[in-house]
Amino acid sequence: MLKVKNKKWQQVIDLCFENGQGHVFRFWDEMNDDQRSELIDQLSRIDWPQMNQLIKQALNPVKQIKHKLEPAPVISLTERETLDRQVIPLGEEALRSGQVGVCLVAGGQGSRLGFDGPKGCFPITPVKKKTLFQLHAEKIKAMSLKYSVNLPWYFMTSRSNHEPTLAFFEEHDYFDLGKENVFFFVQEMIPAVDEHGKFLLAEKHRIFKSPNGHGGILKALYQSGALKDMKQRGLKYIFYFQVDNVLVKMCDPAFIGYHIQKKAQMSSKVVRKVKPEERVGIICQIDGKTGVVEYSDLDDEHRYARDENGQLKLWAGSIAIHVLDVQFIEDENKNGFKLPFHLAHKAIPYVNEEGKLVKPLEKNGFKFETFIFDALLDAKKGCTIEVDRSQEFSAVKNKEGFDSPQTAQQDLMRNYGNWLKQCGVEIPMKDGLPAFPIEISPLLAIDAEELKIKLKTIPVINGPLYLE
Ligand code: UTP
Repeated sequence: MLKVKNKKWQQVIDLCFENGQGHVFRFWDEMNDDQRSELIDQLSRIDWPQMNQLIKQALNPVKQIKHKLEPAPVISLTERETLDRQVIPLGEEALRSGQVGVCLVAGGQGSRLGFDGPKGCFPITPVKKKTLFQLHAEKIKAMSLKYSVNLPWYFMTSRSNHEPTLAFFEEHDYFDLGKENVFFFVQEMIPAVDEHGKFLLAEKHRIFKSPNGHGGILKALYQSGALKDMKQRGLKYIFYFQVDNVLVKMCDPAFIGYHIQKKAQMSSKVVRKVKPEERVGIICQIDGKTGVVEYSDLDDEHRYARDENGQLKLWAGSIAIHVLDVQFIEDENKNGFKLPFHLAHKAIPYVNEEGKLVKPLEKNGFKFETFIFDALLDAKKGCTIEVDRSQEFSAVKNKEGFDSPQTAQQDLMRNYGNWLKQCGVEIPMKDGLPAFPIEISPLLAIDAEELKIKLKTIPVINGPLYLE
């Protein structure tokens, strides 16, 4: 057992040994005082009862309970053709009167994309190569101009990307949104463990921690003071989205309107799954309550089940866009943060007993994550609407292939092309796509309707086109 003079440090060290993690002091003799202090600081913030519970869960996975899964009530695209016009004024009124804020989760590690920097700094638009962050910021700006209101933006990062994200926004002067309207906060990190339940070392004096999942936003909003800020500003509804969806319809008034009309606490957007194997979470009734089943947790019986018309029974794929009541976020924190943790079996780099950094190719440990959609099960009332995938969902997840920068750019161009066509512009096409890169700034128009009003002259397209 390691003995030190500093009593506070000793308490932390003792606790660590008592909980079976004393090996993290293996390189203590090689550390300087700053490094020792850093390790002690990391360890002092561990919630041991919770950590031990999670490790137990990782090492002794219980057989999944079989839940009764049924289709959830969804307001379909067909129903929306007549219902939207009733709810849009509700959403617009909430926007105009300053009751809406925006939440972005951007704390993920973006490991599949493999980009050197925060994923939001990835250049994505077809002509100007605007970053994901700029594209989102301009959509928020466009909506705030449209409704003559500030749309405060609550922005979650994680320890691994906070500094570069902040620097990026500083450098770009907060994309004209006003520094006071962008509220950055950092999500919690949680240690990962190896397959024997032992902490891994990221460096000799640092244990490996990973962000606690996008569900961590509920706790982080509360702890960072963002929730208090929301209340002070008189916000009632929060539009939640993820950094990688280039087609997100920012603060969609129809969606907010349905949420208000249905008196929901948390609402969701879904698309029709393209095939049973598509890797999206499914919104369905879980033992009678609306919730999400992760694609990896869906058994084949449910995955392939068809209704009497031959359609997939559980078809509603979640696209991780939600509206949440501010009050609901507060309620979720009342008796401590309660979203369950999920296990992710991953290849995690670590410092071995000889002090060398190892980057395993095989999975060697577990990370622990919470998911925002688990909050749906706590909502007294929810509302789910179907949206058109081609207009609202295209995610940048992978370096290449499906859900990659290439598919995202193509989806953006298809949309811009369609808007222009609706304005009477002739679009030369090649292989089902506009033949030249085209891009429309959100500050000019956020949809075809707006473009019809704003477009002064009909452009001739014989090369790349950017409209602003
Ligand atoms: P993903 O599940 O796609 O993860 O996150 P990721 O980290 O971006 O990418 P991979 O899996 O490492 O390739 C979906 C959204 O949730 C956010 C991400 O930033 C993204 O907007 N997220 C994810 C967080 O904010 N925190 C997390 O701990 C995890």
